[in-house]
Amino acid sequence: TYVVTDNCIKCKYTDCVEVCPVDCFYEGENFLVIHPDECIDCGVCEPECPAEAIKPDTEPGLDKWLKINTEYASIWPNITVKKDPLPEAKEMDGQTGKFEKYFS
Ligand code: SF4
Ligand code: F3S
Repeated sequence: TYVVTDNCIKCKYTDCVEVCPVDCFYEGENFLVIHPDECIDCGVCEPECPAEAIKPDTEPGLDKWLKINTEYASIWPNITVKKDPLPEAKEMDGQTGKFEKYFS
């Protein structure tokens, strides 16, 4: 599966949702997640994210993000249509430790 990681937080560009063939993105207030059981590993969303926040979970060190994506995909509503990024997206793009500070 692919997972959404830290740099999506407070950016939420949503370009990813438009390209997913199985509509497996779910939306929180300032972050999106991928439902790992629904993702078919096509990889088309990865290059679409301007924040480079989407990664294959085969990359090392992503266990935490796989857990977060799994947990919130079962709680948050599905999102399939692109919307405006969050107003602070540009300033927040590239900041580190966003999960600890801002996740919602
Ligand atoms: Fe959707 Fe493909 Fe991205 Fe998985 S890898 S979330 S199926 S676009
Ligand atoms: Fe987030 Fe990137 Fe999608 S910032 S909403 S994963 S396009």
